[in-house]
Amino acid sequence: MTGRMTILLTLLLATAVTAQDIQVIPLPKPDTTGGKPLMQVLKDRQSTRDFSADTIPLPVLSNLLWAACGVNRAESGKRTAPSAMNWQEIDVYVTTARGVFRYDSKGHSLQQIMTEDIREKTGSQPFVKEVPVNLLYVADYAKANRGSEEDKSFYAAADAGFISENVYLFCASEGLATVVRGSVDRELVAKAMNLRPDQKVILAQSVGYPKK
Ligand SMILES: Cc1cc2nc3c(=O)[nH]c(=O)nc-3n(C[C@H](O)[C@H](O)[C@H](O)COP(=O)(O)O)c2cc1C
Repeated sequence: MTGRMTILLTLLLATAVTAQDIQVIPLPKPDTTGGKPLMQVLKDRQSTRDFSADTIPLPVLSNLLWAACGVNRAESGKRTAPSAMNWQEIDVYVTTARGVFRYDSKGHSLQQIMTEDIREKTGSQPFVKEVPVNLLYVADYAKANRGSEEDKSFYAAADAGFISENVYLFCASEGLATVVRGSVDRELVAKAMNLRPDQKVILAQSVGYPKK
């Protein structure tokens, strides 16, 4: 690990962040050349609910978030996951032992929004409170500027599903364990994260290394 990366990792793990002083943590440049062949990845994709305690190194987290919904065409700002009307209304939040971070795909960075560990509030399954990362896919309906309420929630569910599948495929390639979770107490999470009424938690997804 380089000195710069160590500093970034230390920043990521820093706890002394106040609500007014949002930290922006740049992520290492994603490695977009690696990974297993697609057909092998599809063969290996699966849900896993047995995780080890090993944490996810920052370069791996960086690649994972880019795979999820990073910008893959700088000229248009479009992403690895398709998005209905290109609303890009799904925000990916990363909940860890050290707090909650929002992935900013444009800047390929993390914004720390909380220092509290809310992992156990993201689900009732036993692994949830200890898995290193629980991703939350949160629809920001302020970005969905037309269509009926039914259309908006249908598209948000579809858009979150694409991001989730990208994470599944990255995990299969990288040897990570993951499971997407619809069973989430959305009100509890919204309260814990102080979400606006027009933000809605769609899905959660746990990610870590498989239990040996
Ligand atoms: C929308 C959605 C919601 C899900 N919710 C949960 C959940 O709350 N908890 C869980 O353990 N698995 C959940 N799963 C994972 C499914 O149980 C899993 O995908 C299914 O059993 C097939 O297994 P596979 O992913 O290994 O092919 C969910 C999957 C989807 C697509």
